[in-house]
Amino acid sequence: MTTITLFGSTGDLSYRKLLPALYNMYSNSQTDFQIIAIGRKDYTTKDYIQTIQTGIQEYTRLAFDEEIFKKFSKRIIYYQMDLTNKNSYVQFNEFIKQQNIQDQIFYLALSPQFFHQVIEGLKMLDHIEKNRVVIEKPFGESTEDMNLINQKLKEIFEDDHLYYIDHYLGKEMVQNIKTIRFKNALFKSNWNQDMIESIQISALEKDGILNRGAYYEKSGALKDMVQNHIFQIVTILTMEEQKNQHEAQLDILHHLHVEKMILGQYKGYKQEKNVSPDSTTETYAELECRIQKKPWENVPIFIRTGKKLNRREIYVVIKFRSFDGSPNNLLEIKIQPTEGVYLQFNIKKPQEKNEIQTVKMDFCQSCLEVNRINTPQAYERLLKEVIRNSHEYFSSFEEILTSSRLIEEIEKPEPFIYENQIENSLTDWIEIPHTLDK
Ligand SMILES: NC(=O)c1ccc[n+]([C@@H]2O[C@H](COP(=O)([O-])OP(=O)(O)OC[C@H]3O[C@@H](n4cnc5c(N)ncnc54)[C@H](OP(=O)(O)O)[C@@H]3O)[C@@H](O)[C@H]2O)c1
Repeated sequence: MTTITLFGSTGDLSYRKLLPALYNMYSNSQTDFQIIAIGRKDYTTKDYIQTIQTGIQEYTRLAFDEEIFKKFSKRIIYYQMDLTNKNSYVQFNEFIKQQNIQDQIFYLALSPQFFHQVIEGLKMLDHIEKNRVVIEKPFGESTEDMNLINQKLKEIFEDDHLYYIDHYLGKEMVQNIKTIRFKNALFKSNWNQDMIESIQISALEKDGILNRGAYYEKSGALKDMVQNHIFQIVTILTMEEQKNQHEAQLDILHHLHVEKMILGQYKGYKQEKNVSPDSTTETYAELECRIQKKPWENVPIFIRTGKKLNRREIYVVIKFRSFDGSPNNLLEIKIQPTEGVYLQFNIKKPQEKNEIQTVKMDFCQSCLEVNRINTPQAYERLLKEVIRNSHEYFSSFEEILTSSRLIEEIEKPEPFIYENQIENSLTDWIEIPHTLDK
């Protein structure tokens, strides 16, 4: 049986995302595993299970079932450990031997400041090279740090034992982009600068930084969202169709240039916990990018992402060219919270000879209950992939490094202050009202 050893099991990511995902996987009875939950807090296994129950009840995708949770919790052992103390790894090694654990997945749900010490600690465990490691973004405190961490990991593990997680790759509609692009003659033949005028990607959040000031101060919107999640979407939208998807995505990253950028900071950010009173960290970023490579040179790619905005939504709009002044065809891919596809096109207005009417096809995938039940959440899908030893939904280290360099090299303007919405954008953002959204 696989053992998932969760470093950072008492943190926010584990509470809201990882443990509910593991519970859902267990409920579906598709995968068998046990969990060693590692934290610094002085919990017994019983305390730990009581604490996570509330999170699972709140964040589970499937209905919470008391009986299933009881059985699930029997698979969990809480193990208290200070990751910064070398001796604790010697003791942990003994514990693993006692438990007779063979196949382990180490999930580093930790801030990157701990990665070096944890990797040094892992080295001290018997037969460590046989196991797998999952690493959460940010994969280091800087590009240089990422390189060092990767080198250290590679001293112990083969490439195929390392999983760099970007949970956007586990999102249903991000995966769907490839099918929409490559499995429809309608789009496949028109997916280039001759037919596409612009691409817009929006990832908008209503929440602020919640309790994550210490992390967000170092990261900001560019490192938190653009350099990983949004660049994944950009590259999947524009990559060539080829067998090795990571190579195709990397090729786009090598040709991606940021031409313009504006940054913002929400009003009240400086008063958040663990935020400096004169912080210049951006909580909003808007970019105009170009891919300096055929068939994309003439297509601006607009990106915007931010916190404390007037709505929570992630979506992509492809604006097709208009050749004779008729309204542009629009294709929208809705990623979150609604999942779906919207297509706007032109027909003749009934009764009128020359008048055009713009109509739409609006497919809401997540409006169907059967889809909601059968669609795993991103972390569920990714954890299953790790257990199956599949790398399909994970970033390659080269992609991570190239994206990080790209963001590090941009000169950042001073952020302006905003409240709920942005006044002076780089473009007119296309807003499509949806009749089917829930
Ligand atoms: N939260 C999210 O939604 C999210 C999303 C994507 C990526 N991430 C990334 O995931 C990582 C974890 O994020 P998070 O939000 O879960 O952070 P968090 O809430 O601050 O949790 C940090 C975890 O690290 C543990 N820890 C800290 N110092 C330790 C030590 N000396 N020994 C043992 N454990 C120690 C804490 O244990 P104790 O609580 O027991 O002290 C806690 O479990 C970060 O890199 C973050 O950027 C988070």
